[in-house]
Amino acid sequence: MLIRSPKPLHPRESEVTDHDAWLSRRLFLKKGVAGALAASTGGAGVLLAGCETTAVTARNSDGKLELGIVKPNKSYLLPDTITEKAAATTYNNFYEMGVLKSDPRENAHLLKTAPWSVRVHGMVDKPADYQLEDFIAPHQLEERIYRLRCVEAWSMVIPWVGFPMADLIGRAQPTSKARFVKFTTLLDPSMLPGQRTPVLDWPYVEALELKEALHPLTLLTVGMYGEVLPNQNGAPLRLVVPWKYGYKSIKSIVDIEFTDHRPVPSWTRAAPNEYPFYSNVNPSVNHPRWSQARERRITNIPRGLDAIGALLEPKIETLMFNGYPEVAELYRGMDMTRLF
Ligand code: MTE
Repeated sequence: MLIRSPKPLHPRESEVTDHDAWLSRRLFLKKGVAGALAASTGGAGVLLAGCETTAVTARNSDGKLELGIVKPNKSYLLPDTITEKAAATTYNNFYEMGVLKSDPRENAHLLKTAPWSVRVHGMVDKPADYQLEDFIAPHQLEERIYRLRCVEAWSMVIPWVGFPMADLIGRAQPTSKARFVKFTTLLDPSMLPGQRTPVLDWPYVEALELKEALHPLTLLTVGMYGEVLPNQNGAPLRLVVPWKYGYKSIKSIVDIEFTDHRPVPSWTRAAPNEYPFYSNVNPSVNHPRWSQARERRITNIPRGLDAIGALLEPKIETLMFNGYPEVAELYRGMDMTRLF
């Protein structure tokens, strides 16, 4: 199994681009490319991803966590307009911070993400309890722009900062018996006040088959928009699985367990007929209570929208596997005509 050679957490000074400079260059490029495309396409989608040619450094606002070199991965270009950061960080689902879309932003300050530890255990040859910095340190961070499709029929396009889950799996060295990976969110009602209400069976749990976790698209993320993850988006460590409905992309992870039996994710436990284990985006299989054929793409701050409001204007067609057909091989022989 592939073990990546350790890389320094801190980049050489010459390799670093100041974040503000990076952002303003990026906005400049966005405007330039957008203008050119709008002129030629009448305002259709903007190609933004991968414009940068140099590496960047991402830091959080108080400088506690330095992510080091972040390279844009040009294999993940999308012809979609990137969602504005202001929208992606104010319209959220994070039930541990409240059930309204605005609650996570309002309660985000309660979550303390430093120090943060992550346990990797179960059927692995290299179990470990890591401090977050040590967990991240050996991995080469990259930026990838992915679609995020919520089961509620809204979607966004987000530039994540992270590393492939497959790299962590290489480090943990699962035994031949491991078949699933279970992820668990922090349980602490003092920092996650939504856990005082039994909306779900806390802590939030999600899981993948090991072969899904190994797929190159599966990303462990520590940042977005060139900065560390905001708390409302799942700081300091979040899974992103772009071909599945958004609830599989579990936030604020403290525990990663390799196991031989299929874990029951929180939403699957709550309503197995509505939120089954695989939950691959599939426009031809409706949620029992609404259509999944179309979605409302959020590109800027939605005003006056709540979870129901997001269902009102599903204008664009939802793509099979959210537009990531390369994952189809994982499900060969499985019945895709029902919710599974
Ligand atoms: N992870 C935890 N721990 N708790 C949650 O409530 N919500 C999920 C997912 N991860 C959720 C979670 C759902 S339903 C979605 S659509 C996405 O996070 C939303 O991510 P965003 O707020 O960054 O857009």
